[in-house]
Formats: sequence, structure tokens, C-alpha cells
Amino acid sequence: MAYGLPYGMASRNVALCIIFIAALLHVSLGQTPPKSEVLPEFLALLENHTVTQGRDVSFTCVVNHLQSYKVAWIKSDSRAILAIHTHMVAHNPRLSVTHNGHNTWKLHVTNVQPNDSGTYMCQVNTDPMRSQTGHMKVVIPPDIMDLDDTADQLTTRENGDLRLRCLATGTPAPVVIWRREDGRNITLRNEHGVKRMRTYEGEQLHLRDILRQEMGSYLCIASNGVPPSVSKRYYVNVRFQPLIKVSNQLVAAPVDSDVLLQCYVESSPKALNTWHRNNGVKLLEDEKHDISEVTINDYAYQLNLTVRRLDRSDFGTYTCTAENAYGRADGTIRLQELHLPRPTVTSTSNTEVIEKHTWRKQTEKKGKKYSYVVDKPDSELKNVGHTTPMSRRNVSSPSNVTNKSRMSVFPAPAPAPAHSAPTQSGGQNGVRSSHDSRLRCVGLALAVLVILARSD
Ligand SMILES: *[C@@H]1O[C@H](CO)[C@@H](O)[C@H](O)[C@H]1NC(C)=O
Ligand SMILES: *[C@@H]1O[C@H](CO)[C@@H](O)[C@H](O)[C@H]1NC(C)=O
Ligand SMILES: *[C@@H]1O[C@H](CO)[C@@H](O)[C@H](O)[C@H]1NC(C)=O
Ligand SMILES: *[C@@H]1O[C@H](CO)[C@@H](O)[C@H](O)[C@H]1NC(C)=O
Ligand SMILES: *[C@@H]1O[C@H](CO)[C@@H](O)[C@H](O)[C@H]1NC(C)=O
Ligand SMILES: *[C@@H]1O[C@H](CO)[C@@H](O)[C@H](O)[C@H]1NC(C)=O
Ligand SMILES: *[C@@H]1O[C@H](CO)[C@@H](O)[C@H](O)[C@H]1NC(C)=O
Repeated sequence: MAYGLPYGMASRNVALCIIFIAALLHVSLGQTPPKSEVLPEFLALLENHTVTQGRDVSFTCVVNHLQSYKVAWIKSDSRAILAIHTHMVAHNPRLSVTHNGHNTWKLHVTNVQPNDSGTYMCQVNTDPMRSQTGHMKVVIPPDIMDLDDTADQLTTRENGDLRLRCLATGTPAPVVIWRREDGRNITLRNEHGVKRMRTYEGEQLHLRDILRQEMGSYLCIASNGVPPSVSKRYYVNVRFQPLIKVSNQLVAAPVDSDVLLQCYVESSPKALNTWHRNNGVKLLEDEKHDISEVTINDYAYQLNLTVRRLDRSDFGTYTCTAENAYGRADGTIRLQELHLPRPTVTSTSNTEVIEKHTWRKQTEKKGKKYSYVVDKPDSELKNVGHTTPMSRRNVSSPSNVTNKSRMSVFPAPAPAPAHSAPTQSGGQNGVRSSHDSRLRCVGLALAVLVILARSD
């Protein structure tokens, strides 16, 4: 804020001193006394400010040798006089001027608004007038408009189209990008083909021919360099008829063992899942049957049926069924008795998993139960609370989105005065050095006078 003040001061004071001495010489040489007026001068440039809307800011004007002149503040783009000395001319309660009783005037603007931006002038009414100008730029952090179409929960049939819109405001105009919350790529399809990208820039995200894999949360993030950036979440729901995959359609297990039967289901909305025996009897959770479901992702889950302590009547066909509003799907598993070569061996009861076409003996055992893993359609899938689609505004924190260095010169919104200290001390330093050099100047002048007197 000091802008190399002491140096400027010194040289100015030397100049003033020379003028003063010259004037003395002039007087002493008995000629007409001139007006020895020292004009007011500014000690520092007015600041330029970039301020976030709602914050407070002030311009500081330091004038020396003001004498009977007055300091006025003018909004130079509108030519409106804001204040003269500390008297407010503009009827704007957000403006005020303070004077430190010496050479420093401050124009304070509280709760800065967009129409406060522009050029401010600190003017002294000399003839011609002397003035300095500083600029204020008002910036506004981004905001995302609430669109009345309540499009934050979007639902489509598979292969349908969706348009996600995210209109953002802010100054400067924000950039809007889209990304999937789980970090997977966004799939964009058009006549020319398919593109997959981590982020997409634009206010509208047009998802065409949506597949179930594209279901999930999408975020639009608006940023304009003024922190904080904002984001809004959209949950894309893709609806389709259930699908069941059974990777082991033939399972063999010995009597007395426990066996695990599994169906892989894809369904949205979530299906009603049931297990039946081939005789049409619906299986319920009981000491014989353990029925469970585990969610794999937004639309896929695994159904497990454990049949405990097999007896002969348990062998036969089992059917898993998934049904939702769009249709139903079935999967069947045949459970066969496995005749062990040596049935007398008690401690190791084996089960054998038989694939549809090839018989494959599993090498892994878990107690009495066999487990196998159905190939997931997408190994990257994550659970994303599929039953609670939601949308909310969130302030995204990453420093990438908020660039502090592009932010307002004004750091803190609240207690301002700390700001005024440097100027003040700068001003006083200037005054002190000016005072010192004036003393020196007076001394020098006296010496000159003495010399002159002697020579007379
Ligand atoms: C303020 O900005 C103007 C240009 O917009 C520049 O000429 C001037 O030097 C700046 N003032 C300060 C104190 O940086
Ligand atoms: C500037 O904007 C504020 C808030 O929007 C308003 O109250 C004020 O009247 C405006 N001032 C001028 C000079 O337009
Ligand atoms: C995701 O998109 C990026 C480019 O944005 C690309 O480099 C990457 O290979 C894509 N990943 C997949 C799995 O398609
Ligand atoms: C179903 O079985 C698989 C394989 O044993 C297991 O990983 C999974 O946790 C089971 N799910 C439930 C809900 O029991
Ligand atoms: C914003 O999102 C983060 C993680 O994405 C979460 O931890 C935080 O609670 C959210 N804040 C609000 C206000 O929703
Ligand atoms: C932050 O701003 C600085 C200066 O304007 C610039 O050099 C830098 O690239 C910006 N960083 C980001 C992440 O925008
Ligand atoms: C932010 O950017 C830096 C480098 O510019 C990178 O290392 C970091 O991972 C980024 N953070 C996020 C949250 O994107």
C-alpha cells in the first residue's frame, strides 16, 4: 500500500526545500514576496479492489498540505459526488467517510452490491483540481438456479432420453461441468457414435439411449473463480424389466450338507424376489431355508438361498423370480444329490457345483457350504444408496474449484479495521520523514540567512 512512499517523499521534500530556500533568497534579496503556496499532494495511489458481493471494502486517500482545501469522493462513472470531507452527499447508508484527523480519508462501502462497481475518485478542489482514481470490481460466487421442473429426480425407461439442466448465475459467468458422483465416465451418444468422458461442460447434459449402467448420481458443478463453487446432484433413474442370470444351473450336494443356491438379478425399480420349489411352493425363511439379498449396485443384486441339512426331498428344481412393474424374470436351478464315493467319511462332506454345460469341481470349500462368485457385469460398480435418490446443493470444497488467488483482495468479511493500519502507519511515516526533512530545511535556511546577513 505504501508504493515506495518514503523515497518519493524524500525527493519531494528536497524539491520543496529548494523552493523554500529559493523563496528565502528571493525575499532576502529584497524583491516582491510571492505566494509561497505548497499545493496539496497525494501520498499514495487509490487502491483497486475486487470484492465479493456482500463484503465491506474501503478506499484510502492520503493527502498532504491540504490546507483549506477539501477532499471529496466522487463516483466518476456516474459523476455522483459521494462525500465532501466527512459529510455524506449521496443518500446511501452503505457509504461513509472517515478522517483520521490528519491526512487520511477513507471511503467505506459496506455490504457491497453489484452496482457499486466502477471507478471511485478522491478529489481535492484545487484549481485545476487534483484527483486519483481506483476501481472496484464486484464479483458474485456461483449459484445454481432452482428450476421449477423439479428435474432433480429424473426417470426414464431404458433406451430413453434425458436432459439434465443446470443453470448457474454469478459474476463472472460461471462454467458448468458435469460428472458422475461415483467417478465413472459419462456416456454420450449421438448419430456418430458413443463418447465416454470424465466430465462434460455445458448447462445441459443430454443423455440419449440411456442404459442401466448409466443410472446413478450426476453432479453439476458451477464455478467462476469466486469461492465457493456449488454443485447440485441429479439422480438418474433407469427403469427396465428384471433380468436374472444363474451361473450355476446345476448344483450337486450330498445329503446332510448345506447348499447355497444363487441368482443374480438386475432390476429397476427393485423387484419383488421370491424362491419357489418346482411344485409351486413358495419358500419362506425358516430353519430349513435361509433367504438373503445383497445389493451389488443401483440396479443389481444377488439372491442367496441356503438349504440346510439336505434330505432327499430337497433335491429337485428351485426357481428364483424377480418381478417389478415392467415385467418379471425367472431363473431355475436344479439341485441334485451328489453320491460321494465313500459316504462313510463324515467330517468332509462335499458339494459339487455343476455348470450348465461343463462339470467343474470346485476346489474351494467353506465349511459345508460351497460358494461361488457370479461374474459381475461391471467390476467397478459401487453401492450408491439406490433407494434414496436425492438432490441437494452442496458446496464443493476442492481447492481446484476455488482459486484463492483469483479472489477478492479483501480477505475477511468481518472486522475491517486491521486493514486501515498499514495505510495509517504509512501515512505517519511519510509525515515523520517530511517533518525531519523540513527541520533540516529550516536549519539550512537559517544558515543561508546567517551567511546572507554576514555578507550584507
Ligand atoms: C488500478 O488499475 C488501473 C488499471 O485498471 C491501473 O492503471 C492502476 O495502476 C491500478 N492501481 C493500483 C493501485 O494498482
Ligand atoms: C444498488 O443496488 C442496491 C441493491 O440492489 C439498491 O438498493 C440500490 O438502490 C442501488 N443503487 C443504485 C444507485 O442503483
Ligand atoms: C473415461 O474418459 C477419459 C477421457 O475423459 C478416458 O481417457 C478414459 O479412458 C475413459 N475411461 C473409460 C473407462 O472409458
Ligand atoms: C451370498 O453368497 C455370497 C457367496 O457366498 C456371499 O458373498 C454373499 O455375502 C451372500 N449374500 C448374502 C446376502 O448372504
Ligand atoms: C457435501 O458433500 C460432502 C461429500 O460429498 C459431504 O460430506 C457433506 O456433508 C456435504 N455437505 C452438505 C452441506 O450437504
Ligand atoms: C489460479 O489462479 C492463478 C492466478 O490467476 C493461476 O495461475 C492458476 O492457474 C489458477 N489455478 C486454477 C486451478 O485455476
Ligand atoms: C486439484 O489439482 C491438483 C493439481 O492441480 C491435483 O493434484 C488434485 O488432485 C486436484 N484435486 C481434486 C480434488 O481434483
